[in-house]
Amino acid sequence: MRAQRSQVAIVGAGPSGLLLSHLLAAAGVESVVLESRSEEHVAARVRAGILEHSTVQLLTDAGLAGRLRAQGDEHRGIHLQWPHERHHVDFVDLTGRSVWVYGQTEVQKDLVDAARARGQDVRHEVADVALHDLAGDHPHVTFTDASGNPQRLDVDAVVGCDGAFGPGRAAVPEAVRSSWSRTYPYSWLGILADVPPSTDELIYAWHPDGFAMHSMRSATVSRLYLQVPNGTDVADWPDDRVWDALATRLGHGQDGWELAPGPVTGKSVLPMRSYVQTPMRHGRLFLAGDAAHTVPPTGAKGLNLAVADVALLAPALAALLREGNPALADAYSDTALRRVWRCTHFSWWMTTMLHTSGDPFDEQLQLSQLRWVATSEAGAAGLAENYAGLPIGF
Ligand code: APR
Ligand code: PHB
Repeated sequence: MRAQRSQVAIVGAGPSGLLLSHLLAAAGVESVVLESRSEEHVAARVRAGILEHSTVQLLTDAGLAGRLRAQGDEHRGIHLQWPHERHHVDFVDLTGRSVWVYGQTEVQKDLVDAARARGQDVRHEVADVALHDLAGDHPHVTFTDASGNPQRLDVDAVVGCDGAFGPGRAAVPEAVRSSWSRTYPYSWLGILADVPPSTDELIYAWHPDGFAMHSMRSATVSRLYLQVPNGTDVADWPDDRVWDALATRLGHGQDGWELAPGPVTGKSVLPMRSYVQTPMRHGRLFLAGDAAHTVPPTGAKGLNLAVADVALLAPALAALLREGNPALADAYSDTALRRVWRCTHFSWWMTTMLHTSGDPFDEQLQLSQLRWVATSEAGAAGLAENYAGLPIGF
């Protein structure tokens, strides 16, 4: 077995892992990133596409926002809709903050390019990643490299950026960890389509048939979603059925608005789940992004939360490893969890306000809440503040 050394082992080369390696390098801390999938596989995953204000700020400060600012699309707010009514909630008027439409796939590309440019050590297609001696000051990671050779990496800290199914969250001993979760009784059917968006800004629509959303990736690519029952098979949703349901739920024909259909280039079913595991630090192991928490996509918080975690963690690790100062590392879990729970609540709240459950009492409460949020400045400001994002360090 070949033994190597670095300051930090980062498990996972998704947005959390690559952004953390970037911020650590800028702070003078060396890291190795271990990823079980191929670079092409990670790059091809289709995920959400909304960056909140503080995410854009952080990427800009990190020198990672060149393409985002040139090709992304700044939005003032969203449209909230229910049958016969559509209201614009203007985040800029309400909070002074905007959001940007820029796909996670694009963020990932920018992070990969930056990693390549600085010669970041990223090992793809590794297997059997196992974390050892996390309670002491000298943890190590073992894995099998892409050629099938066993490897050992000795480090000062390990970070689990390995999503919901990696070894990071499981490495916190059961006696120490707690978790909270909610599985929702519905899923999203998402499509990507080669058609210009039929709307200037995102539409979130409540409808008796179920929630629908119109999002976008660019001036020529639309991303749309439909609430469907859990266990839905995409084979039961040919393109015509998807477009018909979207037209009905999004209000095609109302007040002259029309939904333009187009060629569907991707179709998948996404489960909806909330999950939080605490603490986000155990000894020299730290968790960031989906490794510690999952949110349903309704509030567009998954990527933004991951970015907020690593924005806290990078300076904490730099202080610990360069100056021997543990204060920020000791505070990391509690500080990060304040925002995690805020976003967990917000995404649960958006989800339960917009998805139909079949219960007529719930429907009346949802419609009343939607009307209040869309028409009262106090109601709209709460949505706007959470959606456009709280400052880093909230
Ligand atoms: N060994 C190495 N890598 C692993 C392992 C393992 N055993 N298990 C998982 N990974 C990798 C995955 O292949 C993936 O590339 O960890 C990475 C985790 O990436 P993400 O799931 O994208 O999580 P994160 O980087 O925290 O990003 C959070 O991205 O996944 C979305 O919805 C999520 O928007 C949120 C944001
Ligand atoms: C998306 O564009 O994929 C998207 C946007 C907003 C959400 C969820 C997904 O709330």
